[in-house]
Amino acid sequence: MPTTLVILAHPDPRSFNGTWAEATRAASEAAGHEVLWSDLVSMGFDPVERAAHYAATDPAASFDPLKAQEAAAASGSLPPDVTCEIDKLRRADRVIFHFPIWWFAPPAILKGWLDRVLAHGETHAVGQRFDKGQFRGRKALFCVTTGSSADESAHNGKEGDIRMLLWPMAYTLRYLGFSVVEPKIVHGVHGYHRDARKTALDARLRETLDSHEALIAAFDTLPLMQFNADTEFDADGRLKSGAPSHSRFIRHDP
Ligand SMILES: Cc1cc2nc3c(=O)[nH]c(=O)nc-3n(C[C@H](O)[C@H](O)[C@H](O)COP(=O)(O)O)c2cc1C
Repeated sequence: MPTTLVILAHPDPRSFNGTWAEATRAASEAAGHEVLWSDLVSMGFDPVERAAHYAATDPAASFDPLKAQEAAAASGSLPPDVTCEIDKLRRADRVIFHFPIWWFAPPAILKGWLDRVLAHGETHAVGQRFDKGQFRGRKALFCVTTGSSADESAHNGKEGDIRMLLWPMAYTLRYLGFSVVEPKIVHGVHGYHRDARKTALDARLRETLDSHEALIAAFDTLPLMQFNADTEFDADGRLKSGAPSHSRFIRHDP
């Protein structure tokens, strides 16, 4: 049975983000998927990587997170909460993230989930990244809300280009080998609208939820974010001249 992992990063399951995540659960089940569920705040997931997670760490020695992750992976002693999340990731054909933008980035608990769960030596290694990533063939999707409007989140908007704000997290998944579906973003989500603007927002949120089953049913046809292939970089890791630039993050002009 195909499997979808839903990852929710919001403190209230009754929020729009939480409701949208529940819609993903229902739509995925309707599509015949087993659904795995990680509501990070409700789980009390600890997003801070630190020495105390690693029993074998010598308290007198300095803490090197990459080496601690690698050593724990090699000895089968990664922290239980991390092991549990990696197990879900390995089982998932699709990973669907639900989160709001907080300070121009995903919430800290989600960044911390990446820091801890994508453990070096376990989910990636020097010879297992990008085109050789372990999670090749799996797909990730971000379902995101912003408080800012669509205009403010555009390429020339005053709140910054939302596609660039999401790029570091997309590239993190690309690093692991995932294909990343073009994000689904609902703008202008906040509790300060009144009267006609509130009515219009409620209608947009309703429409997002009502159309979600169709979106998930069409998941395999959704367009993907484009990233450079490994062969498009030279031996120093620079983008080769003539290779396409898919993002302002990796470009030809300085
Ligand atoms: C700590 C915090 C920081 C925020 N920063 C941003 C931001 O940088 N850009 C933005 O568009 N909205 C920002 N917002 C607004 C949230 O994106 C908005 O409240 C959320 O998308 C609404 O979804 P919800 O109803 O599911 O909570 C911020 C909200 C909080 C609580």
